[in-house]
Amino acid sequence: MRILIIYFSFSGNNRRLAEYLAKEIQCDICPIIEKKRRTMLTIVLDMIFKRSPKIEAIETPISNYDHTILVAPIWDSKIANPLKTLIKRKKNSLNNYSFISFCGFDRPGQKERITNQLTDLTGYPPKAVSELKVCELFPSEYRDEVNTISRYHITSKDLFKFEDKIYDFLHLIQRTKY
Ligand SMILES: Cc1cc2nc3c(=O)[nH]c(=O)nc-3n(C[C@H](O)[C@H](O)[C@H](O)COP(=O)(O)O)c2cc1C
Repeated sequence: MRILIIYFSFSGNNRRLAEYLAKEIQCDICPIIEKKRRTMLTIVLDMIFKRSPKIEAIETPISNYDHTILVAPIWDSKIANPLKTLIKRKKNSLNNYSFISFCGFDRPGQKERITNQLTDLTGYPPKAVSELKVCELFPSEYRDEVNTISRYHITSKDLFKFEDKIYDFLHLIQRTKY
């Protein structure tokens, strides 16, 4: 099965995750690059106005792959807006897809909201959705500290703590019959 990883990352966590996955399964990887410089302010404005920011053209022929793994942060319980732009633009080339995120928090119902958003955008559900939550790296009394969690940069040691979840996600994809 030919797998492609497409990722967006603002502060580096999802880039690190995407690169780790690509190395594990030896597949091609492609970043989403924005036309304008991203700041914390533009994240908030995109969230409020539900904008789809401009991104550079993706030259990789997505339709040549059997499965695309989409990797991006979660903002306000939705996929990061640049990934939304990519999906809107490329949904007809996506044969099958799944989504994984290094997100921040343990928000009830967030995974279902993400699944519904992806289904609405593409017209069919993802094969798998997985949230790796930064807050799980912190003692329980700090898990709701929005600033601390949102600014945390994961390390390769941190990634190993999520190995089981990552393997479950990859197994789910690789077990899927096309
Ligand atoms: C403005 C903002 C809103 C966020 N909203 C959420 C959210 O609703 N749910 C969540 O789990 N994480 C949320 N996060 C946390 C990010 O998803 C998390 O920090 C992620 O690891 C950042 O990924 P990156 O380093 O690849 O950009 C938010 C972060 C920011 C900056």
